[in-house]
Amino acid sequence: MTLDTTYLRGSIAAVFSILRHSSCPENLSFHFLTSSHHLNHTITSTFPSLSISLLLFDPLLVLGKISTSIRRALDQPLNYARFYLADLLPSHVSRVIYFDSDLIVVDDVANLWNIPLNSHVLGAPEYCHANFTSYFTPKFWNTPHLASTFLRRERPPCYFNTGVMVIDVHRWRKGGYTSKLESWMSLQKRHRIYQLGSLPPLLLVFGGEVERVEHRWNQHGLGGDNIRGLCRDLHPGPVSLLHWSGKGKPWLRIDSNRPCPLDSLWAPYDLLYSPPSSSAASLLLSDG
Ligand SMILES: *[C@@H]1O[C@H](CO)[C@@H](O)[C@H](O)[C@H]1NC(C)=O
Ligand SMILES: *[C@@H]1O[C@H](CO)[C@@H](O)[C@H](O)[C@H]1NC(C)=O
Ligand SMILES: *[C@@H]1O[C@H](CO)[C@@H](O)[C@H](O)[C@H]1NC(C)=O
Repeated sequence: MTLDTTYLRGSIAAVFSILRHSSCPENLSFHFLTSSHHLNHTITSTFPSLSISLLLFDPLLVLGKISTSIRRALDQPLNYARFYLADLLPSHVSRVIYFDSDLIVVDDVANLWNIPLNSHVLGAPEYCHANFTSYFTPKFWNTPHLASTFLRRERPPCYFNTGVMVIDVHRWRKGGYTSKLESWMSLQKRHRIYQLGSLPPLLLVFGGEVERVEHRWNQHGLGGDNIRGLCRDLHPGPVSLLHWSGKGKPWLRIDSNRPCPLDSLWAPYDLLYSPPSSSAASLLLSDG
């Protein structure tokens, strides 16, 4: 998981939710991708008995490689840190789950950890009804040697959300996947083959070769779309993980007194909540 000031509250809630639902929390190790030591104390003092390591990620590694996307928030270097997990993790780590910071897990994470990846490097829920074509520009599809990228894959590619990924770190290292991702980023710099940030390179490298994970492990989109104030509902089916992807974040909506109904499922994990003093005062008053 990444760790930075902006998403700190989310990261802490995510970790707490994982611990709460784990049948064996003492077996879990957390690795935080971060660009400085400064949150180390916060995280280690919040979870004093947890196995925690910080993976220091140098933003300069990607700064020159990022091309501006249509959403500024997606251009943060830390969004790309997941590309470098295999290099940054200690060599004894052979499998890792990457989690975004705007989610909570409401099931035993071991059930996700233990999925068979078969011959694949990466496992994630796939969404085949999403229009895959729209993630790349006409320039990409109209250039035959680029458009043919997906022809050599096991099956037609589908969109997958990159906020929840089970990764075989050994295979990733052996296959040199970090440099494959970097090659697409540098092509993007020259030719603008997509509009979004870190998602398209992952689609380009893994699309059509992802181990399918049950949808319960990524009920995404709860942040709503780009329309302010829009609240999303859960997709049908069982839920093991709720993901507030999109622009709206539960901590921001709760703080501004405009929560969506599902934000109440996030709130119990919010260890860093501090009620604004004015509303605390009015609560005292209304309590008489
Ligand atoms: C926890 O780790 C120990 C030691 O590796 C292992 O024997 C045990 O099966 C693990 N427990 C669970 C529930 O995964
Ligand atoms: C983080 O803090 C812990 C103790 O709280 C310390 O053992 C560890 O070395 C620190 N890690 C980094 C990367 O600063
Ligand atoms: C998918 O997206 C492409 C490009 O944005 C568009 O041309 C095409 O009509 C869409 N297909 C469907 C089935 O909506």
